[in-house]
Amino acid sequence: YGVRVEKELIVLGLETSCDETAAAIVRLRHEDGVLSGPGEILANIVLSQIELHEPYGGVVPEIAARAHIEHMDRLVAEALQAAQLSLADCDAIAATSGPGLIGGVLVGLTTGRALALAAGKPFIGVNHLEGHALTVRLTQAVGFPYLLLLVSGGHCQLLGVDGLGRYEEMGRTRDDAVGEAFDKAAKLMSLGYPGGPEIERWAQKGDGDAYRLPRPLLNDATSGMDFSFSGLKTALRQQADKLAPLSDKHVADLAASFQAAIIDCLSDRTRLAMQAFRAQRGTSDTLPLVVAGGVAANQALRDALSEAAETQGYRLCVPPIGLCTDNAAMIAWAGAERLAADKIDPHAVQARPRWPLSEMPA
Ligand code: KG4
Ligand code: ZN
Repeated sequence: YGVRVEKELIVLGLETSCDETAAAIVRLRHEDGVLSGPGEILANIVLSQIELHEPYGGVVPEIAARAHIEHMDRLVAEALQAAQLSLADCDAIAATSGPGLIGGVLVGLTTGRALALAAGKPFIGVNHLEGHALTVRLTQAVGFPYLLLLVSGGHCQLLGVDGLGRYEEMGRTRDDAVGEAFDKAAKLMSLGYPGGPEIERWAQKGDGDAYRLPRPLLNDATSGMDFSFSGLKTALRQQADKLAPLSDKHVADLAASFQAAIIDCLSDRTRLAMQAFRAQRGTSDTLPLVVAGGVAANQALRDALSEAAETQGYRLCVPPIGLCTDNAAMIAWAGAERLAADKIDPHAVQARPRWPLSEMPA
């Protein structure tokens, strides 16, 4: 790209891969590619499309893409204004180029590339998952290596993170993503969308031991660090059918029992991964356990993981809730980290609906 890598980088980021239209500007400071402290968020604007998709109980791709087109330009202008910067002040423009809903991805990607071309700035195509994976470094001084539990509406995986582009997948879901499981569970009890926050709210009023729901894979020694949630969802449906019509108490107890089962699964797999990760890295130091993605907003999950981390000699690091769910600050930050390290992927300018982290260049 022929860009001089300055000690201070300002990057504009765009995110449109799911049901949030977002634009943000971050600042990164570094010495020879090594971060000199956490970053700074100069603007962070997120427009949620929840209301548009709520009647359908899930994201409708065509509706999402159209809404992204409608709002993207205005959000970029708002972000620049909030940061009191012009496009010329930015060192680069980053946008999610995958994985995600292709129609939406194309909106952010095309907008980002057009802005970059117009301003004569480099364009950085960002892997959305790398955005989630690196967010913690935007707000806290967390160094590599760390263990990452990525739990969102589209993803559920455990990753060893040894550096930029150095991701080792240790476990993954065999069916639904965990956020998807929360959303489906909420839908079958006629709660709102997105389901995660609804289930968490109802669970606070319920008894997690009221119904004995399965913990898929937990007693299967060959399952490694994988997850499975579809059997749990089916068991919840059967239990709900048995109880119908559902009273508020039923809903609260079902939500609490479901959440307890999910947390048991996530904690168990993460505990195994913490042990394996430590053994592989051969260190007795306290290691960071990072949780990212929308489900990391769940307080009961955070409490359980914090306890599990402590018993394994790890310390739990979770980005602020607003940066756990989809946003553009994480995209701008991942772009800035790549730019600082001079590791921009020239192939990442094409939209990719599927793009596992293991296919990221180091
Ligand atoms: O990361 P995210 O905003 O979007 C994706 O990239 O998928 O994650 C959204 C997911 C949704 O499935 C939502 O139900 C879930 O995160 N979620 C939660 C909570 N808040 C959001 N799940 C459990 N508890 C929560 N408090
Ligand atoms: Zn996400």
